[in-house]
Formats: sequence, C-alpha cells, structure tokens
Amino acid sequence: MNFDDATPLLAQHDQSHVLRFWERLDASQRAGLLAQIATLDFASIRRMRGMLAAKAEAPGLGPIAPAPVTRLDEAGRCEARARGEDALRAGQVGVILVAGGQGSRLGFDGPKGAFPIGPVSNAPLFAIHARKVLALQRKYGKPVPLYIMTSDANDAQTRDFFAKHAFWGLAPEHVHFFVQGMWPALTEDGRIILDRPDHIFMSPDGHGGTMSALRASGMIANMEKHGLGLLFYFQVDNPLVDVADPAFLGFHLSHGADISIKVCAKRDPEEKLGVVVARGSRCAIVEYTELTPAQKHAVLPNGQLQFRHGSVAIHIFSRDFLRAQSEADLPLHLAHKKVPYCGDDGALVTPAKPNAYKFEKFIFDVIPNTERAFSLEFSRDDEFSPVKNSEGEDSPASVMRDMVLQFSRWLEGAGVQVPKGADGAPRYRIEIDPLYALTAEDVRGKVSRDLKITGDLLLK
Ligand code: UTP
Repeated sequence: MNFDDATPLLAQHDQSHVLRFWERLDASQRAGLLAQIATLDFASIRRMRGMLAAKAEAPGLGPIAPAPVTRLDEAGRCEARARGEDALRAGQVGVILVAGGQGSRLGFDGPKGAFPIGPVSNAPLFAIHARKVLALQRKYGKPVPLYIMTSDANDAQTRDFFAKHAFWGLAPEHVHFFVQGMWPALTEDGRIILDRPDHIFMSPDGHGGTMSALRASGMIANMEKHGLGLLFYFQVDNPLVDVADPAFLGFHLSHGADISIKVCAKRDPEEKLGVVVARGSRCAIVEYTELTPAQKHAVLPNGQLQFRHGSVAIHIFSRDFLRAQSEADLPLHLAHKKVPYCGDDGALVTPAKPNAYKFEKFIFDVIPNTERAFSLEFSRDDEFSPVKNSEGEDSPASVMRDMVLQFSRWLEGAGVQVPKGADGAPRYRIEIDPLYALTAEDVRGKVSRDLKITGDLLLK
C-alpha cells in the first residue's frame, strides 16, 4: 500500500485522521503506518461503526432454559474412553491451543504461556501443555499435531520460547503456530485511534478469531492433509486441562457431534463463567455479563443453581464443522475501555475513564450454528483451575494449590501416604510431570505404594 492508495481508502471509511501526522513522519515510520493500514479489516470496521451508530444494545437473551448435560457413569466413561483411544491410535486427533490473549489481569511481561506454574519444577504453562501432547503421542503411537494461536502482540516471543526450550521434546514439524487477527479500537464516534503519530492502536480480535485465523493461515488445509477429524480446543491458562481427554473424544464421537462442550458446576452465582443454556432446540453459551441477577441467582427446589453449568472453553470440534465455521461471520462483542491515545501534539494521553470501544469475537458463538452440540459434565477439581489474576481467586497461588491437590489425590489413589499439615492440605509441594503420568490411572500403574514423601516431590 502506498500513500495514494491509503488516502482515498481512509477517506471512504471516514478515517482520514489516521494520516494527520504524515508530514512529520520519517520514511520508516511512514512505511510502518502504511503497512498497518494495509492490514485493516474495513468490512469489520464497518460492522463495528454500525453497532456504535445504532447504539446497539446486546439483543435480549429471549427465553432460555438450562441445557441438557451428560454426566458419564463409570461404564459409560470406560466405553467412551475406549472409543476416544481408538481415534488417538488412528492418528485422527489434533489439538488447538489458544494463546493470543494479552493476559492483562495477570500483568506478566511476556506471553501468558511462558508464566512459570509447576509447583516444584516452575515449568511454564507451555511446557506443561507441550509435554501432555508429547505424552499422548507416546501413549498412542501417533502424532498429535498441536496448533497454537498467537497474536501480533506475542507471536515472535512465543515461537522463540518454544525454540529456546527445544519444543519440550515435540517434533517441530507437528507444532504449527498461527496468528489471529488484530482489530483497531474505535472512539465513540467510530474513529480509529492512534497511540503514536505513526501507529494505530490494535488489539487481538478475541478467541473467536481462531476461526478465521485457522482458515487464513492454511491450518484447516493442514488438518485435512494430516487426516485429522477431531480437534481438541483449550486455553493456555489452565494447567489442569486433560488434553485430548479420550473419554471426551469418545463422547463426541458417540453423539455424532459437531462440537462438544465440557462444563462444570459454577463455584458460586457470581463466578465469571459463561453458562450453557438451551434456546429452543439449540444450545448456546451465555456470558456471565448477559445473565440478569435473577437468572444468575435462580435456584431449583434441590438448592442447585438453575444455570449452574459453566463452560471452561474446553471443546472438541469435528473438522468439517470447524471448516464451515471458519467462514462464518461471528457476532461482535464490544467493551468500553480506557485506550491511550495520541493528542494533537503527538504525545500519548492516558484517559482517566473509558474513551473507546474494543471489539472481540467469542469462540462459543459458533455453538448455536448447529443442532449437534452436546455438553459433558466434569469435576472441576480434576480439570479446571485457570491463571487469570495476579492474586486471590484464579491466581498463580490458587492454581499451584490445585495442582498439588490433584497430584496428591492421584498418589493417594495409588495407595501412597501424602503427609498433611494441620489445615488438612498436603504438607509438601508435589508435582507429576505429564511424561510420568497423564492420569490417576497412569499413576496407579506406575508408582510404588511404599513411596515415602519427606519433602517437595517431583515425579518425572
Ligand atoms: P481471557 O479472556 O482470559 O484473556 O482469554 P487473557 O488474555 O488470558 O487475559 P486478560 O483478560 O487480558 O486478563 C482466555 C483464553 O483465550 C485466549 C487467551 O490467550 C486465553 O488462552 N485469547 C483471548 C486469545 O487467544 N485471543 C484473544 O484475543 C483473547
């Protein structure tokens, strides 16, 4: 793109102010700004401006009911697991890890996946996920390709981090990075924001950006080339995730599902989890912000929350559904935020109150696009504890505690005595490397019940 192309394009979209510092930019700044303009997705910007102009309120939820949710009994779980294991042995399973977010609440300098979380090893989140995938490959004897979504904000750092750690043993040809889209924020009157005279403020287009990014990067074609029919999807911040859980895969296959959803009971009515609901014959996830206080707190006669099943963004997609949805126009969600901007003198101004709208797509908005979406309940203690905040709930401290508790349960299930403190919590930090064991059953088959724990323990 050159200046003569950019000028009419911006004018046509009422964004000419983007070039207002042009005269004072040097050649490389001009080239950078033009390159950024070339990446702008004007069709989406038009949609965003339409939403702002219409002062679009979120459309009412309409009538909703709790969605049907399956809980597998032991026999059902065994049957599903066997089916899922067959798919892993046949090399039909790939894994999508979304790691393009900015981790602003955690406030860590670097990709969130580089955050050290192993309670004994200090292993970063990426290491834990990568070693789970490696363990699956070894267990089932077939590659499990790993597709990692990054964003412009962390792509180079993420690739370097994997390279620096030799991919934690994974074959690099089975690890595919792809970059999600970035969107500008808009002022209340629909103007793109400069945060430097030569730079447009941009942020990732949300985890829903996975869909278009998979297609644009050629990853859907790559999945087809590798004969993958099932894609397990999860987020970078949850080290307890049971990656490519065979029982979940089997559940998905036995339902002929397009998408499967793992759900767990919400911790409390105000927990910031979207809930799974039924709207007519279709299933959907409704963000916690969209439920009324009455809906959040409604209880059934048995005392349980009416909308109790939270989604933790663990899904399985059938590849054909993923391919079809990669072309779908997902709804836009907007959030009123403080976005630093460039004043008329070119200096950065940090606003005291929200001055702009950021737009995002959410992955779960594809769910109502099919009748074949099914939810499976799991126990959150075993599979969900995300790193979101720097302290308090869902912080590194609570996640490490939950990891130690899980590994202690696994050891106790194998007959090992885990020393406890006066508060009933394990006295020492305990960690089990995914290559040692992926599940409680793996631990039972491997550890000696005579193991004596006399200090921090890392089994690997
Ligand atoms: P969150 O919504 O929790 O965002 O993302 P975050 O970036 O981790 O943290 P905050 O909200 O800025 O504090 C949930 C998951 O979705 C991914 C994140 O990397 C995380 O795995 N995600 C989120 C993306 O990949 N892209 C996005 O644009 C947003």
